[in-house]
Amino acid sequence: MKGVIFTEFLGMVADRFSENMVDDIIEASDLPSGGAYTSVGVYDHAEIVLLVDALSTRTGAPVPDLVKAFGHHLFGRLSVLHPEFVCGIDDALDFLERVDKVIHVEVLKLYPDAMLPRFDTTRDGDRLQMIYRSPRGMEDLAEGLIKGCLGHFAQELRMERHKRPDGSTEFNLERLA
Ligand code: HEM
Repeated sequence: MKGVIFTEFLGMVADRFSENMVDDIIEASDLPSGGAYTSVGVYDHAEIVLLVDALSTRTGAPVPDLVKAFGHHLFGRLSVLHPEFVCGIDDALDFLERVDKVIHVEVLKLYPDAMLPRFDTTRDGDRLQMIYRSPRGMEDLAEGLIKGCLGHFAQELRMERHKRPDGSTEFNLERLA
């Protein structure tokens, strides 16, 4: 997993909790990398799971809530780090429809070693269905990113999330009148 995900996660922990909390969770997680992340490095995806678990133990907040909150925060950060992807788009559904076929394709050019999920999308006017597939199973992160996107475009949409029999997760979004 790209280092940018780790650096942004620890940045969020420093902002919302403290620098001491960052040091604490790194120390408690016994990480193969030692926790010295750079945004361009690549690290084992299991390390983010250890860090979130350690944060959950210390704060009492459930892991899924922390991951969703991180996804929300991460969208804001990615849109600042990569304004070219949000620039010229003023609608959340139009943006989300582009994540798989345009945005993550460009991300892969910038970071050839990125491990990205797959989204199969179906658009029908004010509705968008996104089917998420990833061997890393980060559907809580996807939910947080989608919510961060809705916040960014200041749009209120109805969102439903269901697990599918094949293990993928569908997100159904519908624009409210
Ligand atoms: C400015 C827009 C975006 C940029 C620049 C971006 C970039 C990235 C990058 C660099 C990674 C890390 C890849 C790795 O770990 O090696 C990533 C992962 C991921 N992205 Fe995006 N992304 C964007 C928007 C979104 C949105 C809106 C969603 C949700 C619909 C999304 C869903 C995900 C998920 C769930 C992962 C975790 C990897 C996995 O699930 O397997 N991304 N993205």
